[in-house]
Amino acid sequence: MNHPDLAGVDALRGRSLLTTHDWPIHDLAALLDAAARLETLDRAGADLTWLRGELAYAMFFDNSTRTKSAWAGAAARLGMHPVIVDGTSTQVSHGETAEETGAMLGMNAHALGVRHDLILGEGNAFMRDVQRGIDQYRAATGDERVVPVVNLQCDVDHPTQSLADLLWLREHFGGDVAGRRITMSWAYSPSYAKPLSVPQGVVSLLTRFGAHVTLAHPPGYELLPEPMAWAAEGAAASGGSFRVTHDMDDAFAHAEAVYPKSWGPHALMLQRVQANRAGDSAAMKDIEQRALAHNAQYRDWICDERRMALTDDALYLHCLPADIGAEVSPGVMDRFRVDVAREANKKVYVVMALLAAAKVPDLARVLHHTPLGGTP
Ligand code: CP
Repeated sequence: MNHPDLAGVDALRGRSLLTTHDWPIHDLAALLDAAARLETLDRAGADLTWLRGELAYAMFFDNSTRTKSAWAGAAARLGMHPVIVDGTSTQVSHGETAEETGAMLGMNAHALGVRHDLILGEGNAFMRDVQRGIDQYRAATGDERVVPVVNLQCDVDHPTQSLADLLWLREHFGGDVAGRRITMSWAYSPSYAKPLSVPQGVVSLLTRFGAHVTLAHPPGYELLPEPMAWAAEGAAASGGSFRVTHDMDDAFAHAEAVYPKSWGPHALMLQRVQANRAGDSAAMKDIEQRALAHNAQYRDWICDERRMALTDDALYLHCLPADIGAEVSPGVMDRFRVDVAREANKKVYVVMALLAAAKVPDLARVLHHTPLGGTP
């Protein structure tokens, strides 16, 4: 059977994923191997419904197309019932704490996904409180169900995205990103001040796998200090490298993969925290307009054919949705339309791997023995 040794996946039983930084690299590698195996089995039509009758509940405090469908698609392939709710429709908006919410949702569900990405300092802390609420409820009641919490994007990280990106990059590069020159670049967007979590997740993950990562952005678009430190530490430990430039052409020169996307100006994203805490919706709108005006100073930060020609025939990546004509030229997007769809499709297998690794006993053996197109 042509697939990697999956023994490491059994160490992931019961595990939640709140940032990739929380996980040792060998556990991330085991998860990626499981995701690749699940993809092979799923594409071959294998029956993977090991979690029949279980509830996969997810709460989204922000819009989503791909991640919602990846959550639902992963749960359905495993035989679970996916349910996705608008987070603002829960009692969180009436003051229920994250711990209470975790306990109340976790007592009925068998896995919980959360997206809470818009306000710096809040989303990841919310998820950790939700997990504490579930764990305390289960301990107090002797409930032995495994209820992993999966970060479906927060203010710090977007781990199912960065792991899907890594899975796609590994496939593109024939199995490994070590030694590859990969650029994560800011790009102009007129649509909204986007979260910082995708670039933070990408630079802090790829550096740990030995890639030579360049981060490019105009002055004023710095990422949070913590994921920047993780990226520097990851590069030092892996033999990769991490550098920052304020020149998009420099970042594209000789790159083998480029990931140009927008995010909001750092100072205004911090101001949004205060306005949100004060419940000041007029200030929130004003900050958004100022962020877009700030972005407009850098309209020339676009991924176009001229910049792609500076690269070593680079693969173009985007988490989607992309602002076509702003972040990326229509021609470049047309050329890579199928590639970015395949990149997006990897997320369903990352979520499947997270749910299966946390919940299916003896998963390594199950994955080894599941026949292509049948049951184990
Ligand atoms: N890339 C990504 O997370 O897409 P959605 O916002 O549509 O889920």
